[in-house]
Amino acid sequence: MGFFPHAVAVIALVAAAAAAPGTASAQTAYPTKSITLVVPAAAGGPTDTVSRLIAESMTRTLGQTVVVENQGGAGGTLAMARVAKAAPDGYTVAVWHIAQATAPALYDNLKYDVVNDFDHIGRITDVPMTLVSKPALPAKDVKELLDWIRAEKAKVTYGHAGVGSASHLCALILMKELGAQMTGVGYRGTGPAMNDLLGGQFDVMCDQTTNTTNHVKDGKIKGYAVTTKSKVSSLPDLPTLDSGALPGFEVSAWHAMWAPKGLPKEASDKLGAALQAALKDSKVIERFASLGTAPVPQTLATPDALKSYLTAEVQRWGAVIKAAGVKAN
Ligand code: MLT
Repeated sequence: MGFFPHAVAVIALVAAAAAAPGTASAQTAYPTKSITLVVPAAAGGPTDTVSRLIAESMTRTLGQTVVVENQGGAGGTLAMARVAKAAPDGYTVAVWHIAQATAPALYDNLKYDVVNDFDHIGRITDVPMTLVSKPALPAKDVKELLDWIRAEKAKVTYGHAGVGSASHLCALILMKELGAQMTGVGYRGTGPAMNDLLGGQFDVMCDQTTNTTNHVKDGKIKGYAVTTKSKVSSLPDLPTLDSGALPGFEVSAWHAMWAPKGLPKEASDKLGAALQAALKDSKVIERFASLGTAPVPQTLATPDALKSYLTAEVQRWGAVIKAAGVKAN
């Protein structure tokens, strides 16, 4: 009996060492270094705001810094092409939105497959959009604004974050509904576009509440309506387009997280868990609410839920974009 107890003790020691923090296996356990979170739009805009909140929370959960890197341009397709080709090691992820679903119909020479070249981590939030204008626009309410657009058409300028972006898509649907083609002014994100709207450089924009709420509240831009079927908590005075001016009008900028296809299970599981934790994080919930949005239910923050939703959205917006006869190139 004397010999074996020692052997058992040795085995127990090795196992304990393996599990102890700071030991070899803990040091090699994902993540061992900072993670890059790519945002396909300029800093300071709505997607940047959502991404930085999620990154802060995931940093707390994963114990490694999640660093946001902005790369706007071509409606976000340059950045998503880069993420699709990045090493599938768990150290590069992206937060993007509905533009992932519009890109296939708009960009003929898209360098990636929006569904099959990515690992889907999960949905994050569906951000309502708002119809806003430069401070000096005379229109008193949404009816006057839409009548003015119908009358002035191409003389009206609207800002957007590139072909296929949420702000572009919303304007596209609006113009189709109104039967009036406005003149677009493209930016690398609605962050920089907002600076010009505040300065009266163009007339109107359809942008996310995460970017418009505070400026509307401060009276620095004019708010006319929201694009969701229900009113938005952060801007309770704004009517929905659906309830009056444009029945049936509905679009929101749903956001989600992706990674290059082929993640190791450990990385995929930990990123998924950290995202789900972020959606339950009181700091995230409070900040989202103050900007008119909320985390999606946990059941939607899963790889399967995101993959099937994206697949359906590609179909849905593909038909709308085809009918509008719009192409990016
Ligand atoms: C941004 O963060 O700039 C927006 O999400 C751009 C857009 O799609 O309108």
